[in-house]
Amino acid sequence: MKALVLSGGAGTRLRPITHTSAKQLVPVANKPVLFYGLESLAEAGITEVGMIVGDTAAEIEEAVGDGSKFGLDVTYIPQERPLGLAHAVLIARDFLGDDDFVMYLGDNFVVGGIRDLVDAFRAGRPDAQILLTYVPDPRSFGVAELDADGQVIGLEEKPEHPRSDLALVGVYLFTPAIHEAVRAIGPSRRGELEITHALQHLIDTRADVRSTVIEGYWKDTGDVGDMLEVNRTVLEGVRRRVDGEVDDASETVGRVVIEEGARITNSRIVGPAVIGAGTVVSDSYVGPFTSIAENCRITDSELEFSIVLRDSSITGVGRIESSLIGRHVEVTPASGVPSAHRLVLGDHSKVQIRS
Ligand code: DAU
Repeated sequence: MKALVLSGGAGTRLRPITHTSAKQLVPVANKPVLFYGLESLAEAGITEVGMIVGDTAAEIEEAVGDGSKFGLDVTYIPQERPLGLAHAVLIARDFLGDDDFVMYLGDNFVVGGIRDLVDAFRAGRPDAQILLTYVPDPRSFGVAELDADGQVIGLEEKPEHPRSDLALVGVYLFTPAIHEAVRAIGPSRRGELEITHALQHLIDTRADVRSTVIEGYWKDTGDVGDMLEVNRTVLEGVRRRVDGEVDDASETVGRVVIEEGARITNSRIVGPAVIGAGTVVSDSYVGPFTSIAENCRITDSELEFSIVLRDSSITGVGRIESSLIGRHVEVTPASGVPSAHRLVLGDHSKVQIRS
């Protein structure tokens, strides 16, 4: 069994982390979301991975390499433009051959991995197996309609009036039956070859399309609250590991990861929390459910239930909570008079100031 991982798409800006390029590299507990997907494929016993890449190919290739660090053998498949998920299957035909495969969308996160699902698919071998999850607003997803027996009878891509609140999760298991289906469909209204249409084609031609409802699913939707929640869920599972330096005036409590090269001085870190390599925390408090990436400076501040991306500094600003701070950000107190907030904010930024 092979895997087709979709890490293409245009290098569009991702809200709210404005200048982040490849959305598959958004970090969750200091690790790109794509890496969790790759690890879960390896854990499911898959080694051969075709990786669809687009505008951000260089960034993805730099992060993933030949896949050996995940125990995978990665073949890059360039896609000229994001022409749809079914288009990705079309252009991967030579790589996939006549093998069964998992199609994994690189910006999706499935808590607990996919091993059981892959095992069940291998055992039952329906033509296709999809995963579904309940979401509060299904309009930005593929939406499935099930009959009374739980059989999938219809699929719609981003419907204005969804027929259910069951969204398609970006993990699909296919036999080679999908190849005929992706050739049979035409572009949708938004100009893409939709995998939902290919699946609908399978259903209409009486192929065996099964579904499983899962919990613990996340996809970036530009929602900070969501991102903090998935960060919290992953941090819940970390094991304590202190490889960096912690001085005698500091205290680390509970499940704390201090990466090698990080330095903690005169501070208190209460887990679960991760502090990236090269980051220096001094005279500060870092509270539960906080991820601070590499090469940050946290000085004379308090931080809790937050994510800080790499190369940022926070100095002398009191307490920050429930916040997402991008790369190369500087947060400092305003100096002098007049007493005013001074802000330089990128596109799509959101600031809440206690007045
Ligand atoms: O995440 C689940 C949803 O993914 C499903 O509910 C939808 O049915 C499915 O169409 C898809 O919808 P999105 O609009 O969210 O897909 P997005 O454009 O974000 O692409 C998903 C991933 O696949 C992302 O990592 C980029 C990559 N991709 C996408 C397209 C369209 C490619 O590599 N090539 C492409 O042509």
